[in-house]
Amino acid sequence: MKEENVKNEWRQESARSKPIKAKTLDEIETLHDVRVNSIDEELNRVLGGGIVPGSLILVGGEPGIGKSTLLLQVGLQLKSVRVLYVSGEESEQQIKMRAERLERSSANFYILTETNSKNIFLAIENIQPDIVIIDSIQTMQSNQLDSAPGSIGQVRQCAGELMKFAKETDTPVFLIGHITKDGLLAGPKVLEHMVDTVLQFEGDRHFSYRILRTTKNRFGSTSEIGIYEMLGTGLREVSNPSEILISQKDGPLSGVAIGTTMEGNRSLLIEVQSLVSPASYGTPQRTPTGFDQKRLNMLLAVLEKRCGFKMGMQDVFLNIAGGLRVEDPGIDLAVCIAIISSLEEIPISDKIAFAAEVGLGGELRAVNKIEQRIQEAEKLGFQEIYISKYSQKALDLKKSRIQIKSFGQLNEVFQDLFG
Ligand code: TYD
Ligand code: MG
Repeated sequence: MKEENVKNEWRQESARSKPIKAKTLDEIETLHDVRVNSIDEELNRVLGGGIVPGSLILVGGEPGIGKSTLLLQVGLQLKSVRVLYVSGEESEQQIKMRAERLERSSANFYILTETNSKNIFLAIENIQPDIVIIDSIQTMQSNQLDSAPGSIGQVRQCAGELMKFAKETDTPVFLIGHITKDGLLAGPKVLEHMVDTVLQFEGDRHFSYRILRTTKNRFGSTSEIGIYEMLGTGLREVSNPSEILISQKDGPLSGVAIGTTMEGNRSLLIEVQSLVSPASYGTPQRTPTGFDQKRLNMLLAVLEKRCGFKMGMQDVFLNIAGGLRVEDPGIDLAVCIAIISSLEEIPISDKIAFAAEVGLGGELRAVNKIEQRIQEAEKLGFQEIYISKYSQKALDLKKSRIQIKSFGQLNEVFQDLFG
């Protein structure tokens, strides 16, 4: 690496720089967990229990998904700590208008519209913030490089300077980064290995629900999600997601089944919707939304081969309600039930939940954390839950009020439901 490349706008000779000395583990002081409570429970959860001092947190997502709104909101909520929000995207007026829309304000919240890293560090020296938010890393530019803002070199350089600042001063820094649907824009991708935590803000722009997902975390689990609803006055934390993931309707509808999924340590009940109709032109369509295409093909093959349903000439549409994307195989059974319910036009009672994986032999396989799934279904007022008989072993059945039905084969479930 050339000498210029390692230069930093953040002070070179740190006041805290110490003599170079390797230490044994005993010589290193244990830092007690001094995380900053972000007030936002969903954000705390995805961070693994609050904001870790000195951590560099990348918040990625498509343009317009709500990244600026989220961090502005969090910054304004943190009234007792000093927050510096640096924007290279919007004017002071625009940010002020947005804050008014959020109906929040804080005397400890500072806004700087600037893109030059040297100037940002000057402001930081001046304001001495406890938390820094950079919106967005693609607009930032360091004098150390000639390349344009948004180029890989600049993104990496600026992030590197901010990292040095974060680590030396124990100040947490949030970096907002835009990515396109296929992750194409190079920015955030090149940063993933540098930062401590990567949060992905997702959701369908046409839906009001947003999911904040941890994809990397040096300080916690990576399977946590936070759920928000975008309202006219900002993002609302959704603390009981199952209620919104199951659509409101008057009675049972064919093609709908409720499955359970684990997202981190949370159990969610979600609605699987399917529409099966004869294919009018040539090759039938298999179109899942929020569910893996290959897995859908596999389940359709199982339904055809093991259960005798003629799926070959049917178009199959599958949708996970609420814009969620589910990878947990625990919803397999609900997917199969939704498909057959639509094919046969027989509605399933909306008081039944399903929790089992489906194997290639048409067998129902056990899923993890079955007790938590059952508890969540019970809590939400479901009367029955269909599970694999192999899950049952681990259960203390007397505890539940909900009726637990366990089966070994998909066929037995169809027998029970459709007769
Ligand atoms: P924004 O935070 O600007 O997205 P990003 O920073 O990820 O590009 O969010 C933009 C969208 O959110 C925009 O379409 C308007 C909408 N919005 C609301 O619906 N309610 C609100 O209170 C705010 C501030 C924005
Ligand atoms: Mg923005």
